[in-house]
Amino acid sequence: MNSYYQNRKALVTGGLGFIGSNLSLRLAAAGARVTVVDASIPECGANPQNLAGGRGIRVIPCDVGSPQGFAEEIRAADIVFNLAGEVSHIHSMRQPSRDAEINAGAQLRFVDACGRLAPGLRVVYASTRQIYGVPRYLPVDEAHPVLPVDFNGVHKYAATSYHLMYQSMGRLDGRVLCLTNVYGPRMALDIPGQGFLGNFLRRVLRGQRLEVFGDGRQLRDPVYVDDVVNAFLAAGAIDDPPSRLWNVGGSEALSLGDISRVVSAAADVAPPAYRPFPREHKSIDIGSYTTDSSRILRDLGWRPQVRFRQGIARSLEFFRRRWQHYLPGTPPLPASSYHTDAPDASGIAV
Ligand SMILES: NC(=O)c1ccc[n+]([C@@H]2O[C@H](COP(=O)([O-])OP(=O)(O)OC[C@H]3O[C@@H](n4cnc5c(N)ncnc54)[C@H](O)[C@@H]3O)[C@@H](O)[C@H]2O)c1
Repeated sequence: MNSYYQNRKALVTGGLGFIGSNLSLRLAAAGARVTVVDASIPECGANPQNLAGGRGIRVIPCDVGSPQGFAEEIRAADIVFNLAGEVSHIHSMRQPSRDAEINAGAQLRFVDACGRLAPGLRVVYASTRQIYGVPRYLPVDEAHPVLPVDFNGVHKYAATSYHLMYQSMGRLDGRVLCLTNVYGPRMALDIPGQGFLGNFLRRVLRGQRLEVFGDGRQLRDPVYVDDVVNAFLAAGAIDDPPSRLWNVGGSEALSLGDISRVVSAAADVAPPAYRPFPREHKSIDIGSYTTDSSRILRDLGWRPQVRFRQGIARSLEFFRRRWQHYLPGTPPLPASSYHTDAPDASGIAV
């Protein structure tokens, strides 16, 4: 699949952020000519260090909502990976208009420009499990009703629909991945509000005990970023796919209690403490969520490869070596404190 990208011109929006940078680095390693467009939006995960070591990646500091600023790059692109967005549910509730502009308004202008400047262009969009809201059943498949419980889910669903509409209007070759919680190297650990996995990693790297809201029995299926990159590459490489939207989940369904215990043990900090949900979080909590990834397995042959325990060990190792770029001012625990042989999450009852 990687050979598909040799010499192709790939435009990656949001490529200074967590997932976009991991994808850009992999595309460059596969021989693609990569251009990143990123506006380094405050409170999002842009970090120039994320692209360190990426050979030949060009970065254009521009907002996707102002596509006239990089029209030539759109015209020239063979494929677009559209990962520009604001990931935080909490931020969306505090500033709904800001979230609407970033996740919907700017996206509409960008998708429309792609359709006008490069009719039929292949665009793979990063959507979210949050569009489904509180699951009516588990695991959640693509037929699940769309019932978002926060502004992030509403606006991400709008952008999801833009991609699918421009596809059905014949203006773009649109594809969408609905991602569950993603974790791994290059997460923006220093930005609170970007989800519990970033918070967990930040706290244990500082030697702090984890706090779990509620009883810790809610299920999640975290997916390691390398697996997500594989899903994007697979979604971009297929001609005439049988579907246009795929759910992307992790390798294991784990309770938040188990997730927090694995992370704590891997970093050698005390077991987690439980406390009641803060009101701000409770109102947008979706309870348990796990992904039915069978459509993407059937259509694209994708399945997650990395077990949670492995992914956490790799993440801790990455951040320990490069902490000054991700947790400035706070040296993490020394390497000797880590247990890379923390108990396997799969061995814990969920
Ligand atoms: N991280 C997750 O767990 C997760 C889960 C589901 C979906 N997603 C989606 O994946 C995408 C990438 O997420 P991430 O975790 O890498 O986030 P991130 O915050 O690390 O990166 C997003 C990047 O997009 C850039 N950006 C945002 N709006 C922009 C705009 N209008 N113009 C140009 N650049 C813009 C930001 O500056 C940032 O660098 C997002 O669209 C997000 O909604 C992420």
